[in-house]
Amino acid sequence: MQRVPFDFNAERNLNVLSNAAFLTTHFEGKTNVMVISWGALGFMWRLPIFVAMVRRSRFTHSLLDKSREFTVTFPYADQTKAVAICGQESGRRIDKLAASGLSVRAGQSVATPVLDIPGMQLECKIVYERLMGPTRLDKTINELWYDRQSGNYHTFFIGEVVDSYLTL
Ligand SMILES: Cc1cc2nc3c(=O)[nH]c(=O)nc-3n(C[C@H](O)[C@H](O)[C@H](O)COP(=O)(O)O)c2cc1C
Repeated sequence: MQRVPFDFNAERNLNVLSNAAFLTTHFEGKTNVMVISWGALGFMWRLPIFVAMVRRSRFTHSLLDKSREFTVTFPYADQTKAVAICGQESGRRIDKLAASGLSVRAGQSVATPVLDIPGMQLECKIVYERLMGPTRLDKTINELWYDRQSGNYHTFFIGEVVDSYLTL
């Protein structure tokens, strides 16, 4: 484990994210992983932040509501099988860690674990969240992303990055 600044390898990590990264949640003994390709890295309130965008329908959403923290793993090696499982199956139905063969290691600064794979890890505490809605949303985006999905809007979960490191 090598500690690095939260924006270390930012270009590489955003490139990985645009394809597939992992968001891990943990509450009352249950750990769940979902694939994300939407997200933002930057600053708010003079804090380093990662914004995750999670639709209300996801099991992950209900865990985030309760745990108020998450970790993000930007994988640096091929994870095709894990992406297929964690990006399509729901933790409501199956244990995705077991199904995908992924294992976890303890978080350093949060109770949520990180994926034990080569990559960069962010540990985040939620400092604000906001559910999107149609008001003041670009019409084309609304039609494309939400009208056809019965208004299943994303919540922006703004996480303060409280730890960041490489696992290689
Ligand atoms: C490449 C890829 C990227 C995805 N990105 C997101 C995302 O940014 N936000 C989101 O809400 N769902 C996203 N998903 C969908 C979730 O990963 C998927 O619905 C998952 O099964 C949710 O799991 P859960 O119900 O256990 O939370 C993505 C799926 C894939 C395959």
